[in-house]
Amino acid sequence: MPDSAKVQAAPRKVSAVFIKTEIALMKKNPLAVGAALCALWAAGIAQAGGGTSPQAQLQRWNAQAEEAGQAARGKAFFTQRHGGEWSCASCHGNPPVADGRHAVTGKTLKPLAPAGNPVAFSDQARADKWFRRNCKDVLSRECTPREKADVLAFLIQTPR
Ligand code: HEC
Repeated sequence: MPDSAKVQAAPRKVSAVFIKTEIALMKKNPLAVGAALCALWAAGIAQAGGGTSPQAQLQRWNAQAEEAGQAARGKAFFTQRHGGEWSCASCHGNPPVADGRHAVTGKTLKPLAPAGNPVAFSDQARADKWFRRNCKDVLSRECTPREKADVLAFLIQTPR
């Protein structure tokens, strides 16, 4: 078996052992097991979240823009249309601390501002993916680092 396959297989083995231990423990001490499961769940979220935060992502865009994002500029950018049919607020709402509603599908979207949604901007890959996609939908191009820094500065400062 190649080394990479071994590395991939390892976590599965660990969780099988873990689950067996959990079942054994469950019979003795359900409360402790609950706590352990919570810890594991939280660790899973941290991992799935790619270990980043809104603040860390803002710093990344600030560095690329060579300028600090400005919330006022971000707010204007977020709420204005850019030649197309939609603004960012068309789907994410304004202020974006409440649930949004997809302008096309009607699907409910979790709030985009971190104050309304602890998971927002906790995953770099997810934020990058949606920035790319949504900017193309709204501006017919990708957003610049400065635009992203502005939007994120605005979102971070949007109160609940
Ligand atoms: C046509 C609807 C639509 C428009 C317009 C739109 N978005 Fe989104 N956006 C989405 C959807 C759907 C998601 C994914 C939501 C989810 O997974 O809960 C999303 C997610 C995001 C995320 C990911 C946040 C995270 O970390 O989870 C960012 C960033 C984002 N949008 C930025 C923008 C910006 C900036 C604009 C304006 C340029 C914009 N969006 C306009 C539909 C839209």
